[in-house]
Amino acid sequence: MRLKTKMLVMPYFVIHGEGKREPLASMPGHFRFSIDELLKELRETEQLGIKSILLFGIPRAKDPCGQEAYDDAGIVPAAIRAIKPAFPKMKIITDVCLCEYTSHGHCGILAGAKKVKINLVKTLELYARIAVANARAGADEVAPSGMMKKQVASIRRALDKNGFHNVTIMGYSAKYASAFYGPFREAAGSTPAFGDRTSYQMDPAATYQEALKEIAADIAEGADTVMVKPALAYLDVIREARRKFRKPLAVYNVSGEYSMLKAAAENGWIDGDKLLMEIMTAFCRAGADIIISYHAKDAARILHGK
Ligand code: PBG
Repeated sequence: MRLKTKMLVMPYFVIHGEGKREPLASMPGHFRFSIDELLKELRETEQLGIKSILLFGIPRAKDPCGQEAYDDAGIVPAAIRAIKPAFPKMKIITDVCLCEYTSHGHCGILAGAKKVKINLVKTLELYARIAVANARAGADEVAPSGMMKKQVASIRRALDKNGFHNVTIMGYSAKYASAFYGPFREAAGSTPAFGDRTSYQMDPAATYQEALKEIAADIAEGADTVMVKPALAYLDVIREARRKFRKPLAVYNVSGEYSMLKAAAENGWIDGDKLLMEIMTAFCRAGADIIISYHAKDAARILHGK
């Protein structure tokens, strides 16, 4: 039940511009990278043996429909086109969602102006366009994170229709409406302008059977990998998912989980390296195959005794 470097996926925030490496106040050690800086960063990531990265884009401008998300010239396709030739062996996964791109910060297109009512048809159409734009740029895997019904099926259909049969899908299958996402939203400027995400993300108090239903639905729709998110407070769900399904199981050790550990370690209140390995071991013991974590580089460094 031990962590291996090949299980780790490192998330990155990408911004427009050059020479930019903006520190994230609530996530010490993480930055918003412009593409040129990200390429430098990835040399180290690759040297540490990390084989996969997950990209989040910060657009030039936000609007109600999140236009840059599905623009072939958007920040994520541009980043993929730069990374692929420089790091041909690195698996590039993209987060498929609208919240980083919409002015209201919600994960879908809203039916009205001030109410959280999602226009599902329009949202699914745009998710499909995001996935295809990312695939066209060279993404290896797309990961829809909006928790919209049938998002995996509509993305699979669109990828296949455009000839991207080899591009796989990692579903954010059981994603809870969690306060652990706070630092991420600060990094991506994606805090909802009004309302919250409880109408599309899961209730933390829901039974684990509901999570299993969500995961089963993603598998039926064609997900290649399924996910439980967040990770630490949902180890029971990870374990149940492991017992029930054969698909590769990813867990997302989210931003707030990272910040908690970093803050305590920086204050000297805990031994950060030891605690990190203990947490990673717990994910492995619960049944994770893949661990998406802002600590990925730290964990790899510890594994290699550096
Ligand atoms: C986009 C998305 C979010 C995260 C991953 N994809 C934010 C959210 O749902 O609010 C959170 C990741 C983290 O906290 O590290 N929908």
